[in-house]
Amino acid sequence: MLEISDLAVGFSREGRFARVIHDLSYSVERGETLGIVGESGSGKSVHALALLGLLPQPPGKVLGGRALFEGEDLLALPESRLRDLRGGRIGVVFQDPMTALNPVLTIGRQIAEPLIRHKGLSMRQALDRAAELLDLVGIRDARRRLPQFPHEFSGGMRQRVMIAIAISCEPALLIADEPTTALDVTVQGQILDLMAGLRERLGMTMIWITHDMGVVAGIADTIQVMYAGRIMERGPVEAVFASPRSAYTWGLLQSLPHGAHPPGGRLRQIPGQPPDMFNLPPGDPFAPRNPFATERCFKEAPPLRQVPGSVPGHVVAAWYDLPAALQAAP
Ligand SMILES: Nc1ncnc2c1ncn2[C@@H]1O[C@H](COP(=O)(O)OP(=O)(O)OP(=O)(O)O)[C@@H](O)[C@H]1O
Ligand SMILES: [Mg+2]
Repeated sequence: MLEISDLAVGFSREGRFARVIHDLSYSVERGETLGIVGESGSGKSVHALALLGLLPQPPGKVLGGRALFEGEDLLALPESRLRDLRGGRIGVVFQDPMTALNPVLTIGRQIAEPLIRHKGLSMRQALDRAAELLDLVGIRDARRRLPQFPHEFSGGMRQRVMIAIAISCEPALLIADEPTTALDVTVQGQILDLMAGLRERLGMTMIWITHDMGVVAGIADTIQVMYAGRIMERGPVEAVFASPRSAYTWGLLQSLPHGAHPPGGRLRQIPGQPPDMFNLPPGDPFAPRNPFATERCFKEAPPLRQVPGSVPGHVVAAWYDLPAALQAAP
């Protein structure tokens, strides 16, 4: 459904230029849910914005790559076509529903608008559909709520409205960037259940960006761990959780609160500082924080490779052998 190859993105700041996405390649199969995790600044949002044609350029710049979505290269499309896809074949949910919703338009209008634009419905038809969608995302009394404004909804309810808008045109692909981060754990759990149900009903493919390993465990088929604009490890969720091969993934899993991985099981810190993209170390960018780093890690960036003996598609970028290093560790 989506095949990204060699995506590179840079930013300029105060007269300097830095690469923040390094030759990112991955693909997502139809019906798959991909969970993308990584600490702040790892490039999760920037890469999604670049795919959607929403990267602020300047200061950002797409330096190269391809992103084939249903056969079209998103990175080469004119803005008009991208606008067509966003909210149409590709649904998007961002973190902060208050800034994403227009405060002066009613909820009904905001849900109706993409239906009119992408599906050619009349206002009346679109409002009928809007009521159905609010109902679908678990907002009661939908008819009565259509004429209300965003500030009349709670945070959790606004996020549901955002999801209703994102799925209104039954997108083939939904990209969600930290859609539940601002919500309390209970509401977050409800939204995740809602998304899992919608995915089943609509047969959606999803990319779910989060800080939260617990969320990934709950919703994703595949996990992709990013650091400093690269993929450090990727694979089926069960395989990666059972036997991580990147010290960074291992650190993220170690930093989970003890025991299960419930939604809201927020990451504690991995020791050391996230990298400064304007002063990246040579070699593996995680090496300075990696207790298992070898000499080679500081010199040469490791390529992503299939993990020997693991399931197909479990890939890691590491020069060291993590299971062996863990066994040897005191
Ligand atoms: N407008 C901007 N100007 C300069 N640099 C930027 C800008 N936006 C993002 N960056 C840089 O791009 C890199 C990737 O940022 P990005 O927002 O994608 O991280 P993220 O993984 O989404 O983090 P978070 O978990 O905090 O959302 C960071 O180094 C960040 O400083
Ligand atoms: Mg982000």
